[in-house]
Formats: sequence, structure tokens, C-alpha cells
Amino acid sequence: MYILGIETSCDETGVAIYHSSKGLIHHCLYSQIAMHNEYGGIVPELASRDHIRKLIPLIDECLQQSHILKSDIQGIAYTAGPGLIGALLVGAATAKSLAWSWNIPAIGVHHMEGHLLAPMLEEHTPAFPFVALLVSGGHTLLVEVKNIGHYQLLGESLDDAAGEAFDKAAKMLGLAYPGGPLLAKLAEQGQAKRFKFPRPMTDRPGLDFSFSGLKTFTMNTLNNTDKTEQDKADVALAFQQATAETLAIKCKRALKQTGLKRLVVAGGVSANTQIRKTLTEMTNKERAEIFFPRPEFCTDNGAMIAYAGCQRLLAQQQESLSINARPRWPIDELYTH
Ligand code: KG4
Ligand code: ZN
Repeated sequence: MYILGIETSCDETGVAIYHSSKGLIHHCLYSQIAMHNEYGGIVPELASRDHIRKLIPLIDECLQQSHILKSDIQGIAYTAGPGLIGALLVGAATAKSLAWSWNIPAIGVHHMEGHLLAPMLEEHTPAFPFVALLVSGGHTLLVEVKNIGHYQLLGESLDDAAGEAFDKAAKMLGLAYPGGPLLAKLAEQGQAKRFKFPRPMTDRPGLDFSFSGLKTFTMNTLNNTDKTEQDKADVALAFQQATAETLAIKCKRALKQTGLKRLVVAGGVSANTQIRKTLTEMTNKERAEIFFPRPEFCTDNGAMIAYAGCQRLLAQQQESLSINARPRWPIDELYTH
């Protein structure tokens, strides 16, 4: 069964063709970053309009490069939430319209479920159950994954998401939006141990996160320097190290609490090399296994949506042709089968 996947929840238009037994056939991605860059962040209305412009040509391109025909597609998966409402509605309306005209089913996918299942696109996939750390621009979640669709929230950020903290710290360092990857690049020039940043909420029990204090600490530390390139690189490294260690402490706790020995790490921030390394060292010590998507599938893409939708369609899940999107959608509210 060939599935067309559509992702339009934020600033990336993602399209993919996934086959239930052959795996991922092809994926195409168009990033709006250059357009939002001059505003220092995402402008939702511009995002929606750009998705409208780019989505259909991207679907055509993906079909062509996959060497399959429209008539080969047997289902459509689209991101139904959470995300920017206008951007989501572009994907939902396109998916439902194509489904109606091609006479095939369309299914809404939870964006974070897409991230969570992204490691399933790799060769070495995790078996269920596992603990998942989802770190993106909008969410930081620790989830106990019993099976596809069975998600229990263990902890979440009480304020900024990890990616949001990266982006805000990067802005303070004079870097462009989205600053996460640029901060990581700058940190490569940093000297370790010059600054010691706090590891928020690790001194008390629980699995929730808080990153807004790290942001203030970054600002204060930077203001106490001459703001030379070396100062900025040292601050970037200290911030990144504090974030990586905080995530590792909480993941270790989540593995202990659940008794599980498998950790999945996904979402945009999981592309960060230092975070991957710190978490891998922790799981090695704990004799647990760790799974990441390839860096390309850590950030938003259509392939993860096609995969998640395919599993739901295989489980006979159905949806009417009415067009719906949910800007807010807790992952533990996902219905199961
Ligand atoms: O998952 P994602 O593409 O979109 C959302 O669902 O939010 O995540 C985007 C976030 C941004 O905050 C971006 O700065 C961050 O992931 N990010 C990174 C890296 N690559 C992307 N943060 C740190 N290091 C990276 N290498
Ligand atoms: Zn995302």
C-alpha cells in the first residue's frame, strides 16, 4: 500500500511516499526559513500562504521522483495538529480534497506521534515498549510508549520547549532564526568549563522540565563579558552542555521509573550532536539501548507523517471527509485501536 504523507504544521512543507512493505520510497522538503528569517521568527500568515504555493508542486515532484502514478496511492496521511492553525488547514484541506477526488481514505496524524515514530524509518528500529524524549521547537515531552497509539505522558516542559530555549539563546548571541543549529555550530569553537550553567529542576524529583531559567542565565552571563566571538562561543557551549545534561538526567530517571531499557530521542533538537553524544553515554552506562532518527528526519518532514498514517490506515482507522485541524492536541489524548 502506497501512502502519501503531507506535513505543513509549521515552516516546512514536507511530502513523502511510503510503502507499507517496501518502506520509504521518496521524500521532498521545502523550508520557509529564508522567508521568515528577516522577521526573526515565524510569521503564521506568511507560513500558510507559502504552504498553499508550494504543497501541490511538491506533491507532483515527489510522485515523479518516486516513479509511481497518482492511481498507485491508496491513502493519504496529513498532520492534523498540533501546530499553526492556518498552516495545518492547508495540509488538511489538500489531503481531504485529494482523498475525495482519488476516492481513497485520508487520515490525520498527530505531529508529535510523527516525530516519535521517525526512528521506525531507520534500519535498526526500537521494539515496544520504550521511553521517548521528544524535543522540538514547540514541545519537550517524556512519554512512555507501550505501543503505537498507547502513549502515557511522563513529563513535559513547564515553560519554554528545548528548541525554543535554543532559539532564544541563539538570538541573544546574535544568531539568525532558527538559531538551534547555528548555536551548535558556534559551540564547536567554545572552551569547556569556563562557565557553569544550572541544570534546571534536576535537584527535585519528577520528570518535568523548565528551560526559561537557562535563558535568563545565558543573558546574564553574556552581559558580564565583552561579547567577543570567543565569549559567545563559550556561552553557547555552556548552554548546550547544560541542556544536554539536563535532558540526560531526566531520561535516566524516566528509564528507572518505568523499568524500561530502550530510549527513543526525536524532534528537531535531537539532531544536536552533543545531545546525541551525552544521551548515548548515559544509555551506555545504564545498559540501555538508544534510538535516534537520522538527522534529516529529526526536524519536520513528510516521511514521519506518511509512516504514522500508514500504521493507522493498516489498523483500519477511518475518518470522514470533513476538514479538521487541532492547534492544541495533548499526545495522551490520541485515540487508540
Ligand atoms: O521538530 P522541529 O523541526 O519543529 C517543531 O516541531 O517544532 O524542531 C525545530 C527546533 C528548532 O527550535 C531548532 O532550532 C531546533 O529544533 N534544532 C536544533 C538543531 N536542529 C534543529 N537545536 C539544537 N541543535 C540542532 N542541531
Ligand atoms: Zn516538529
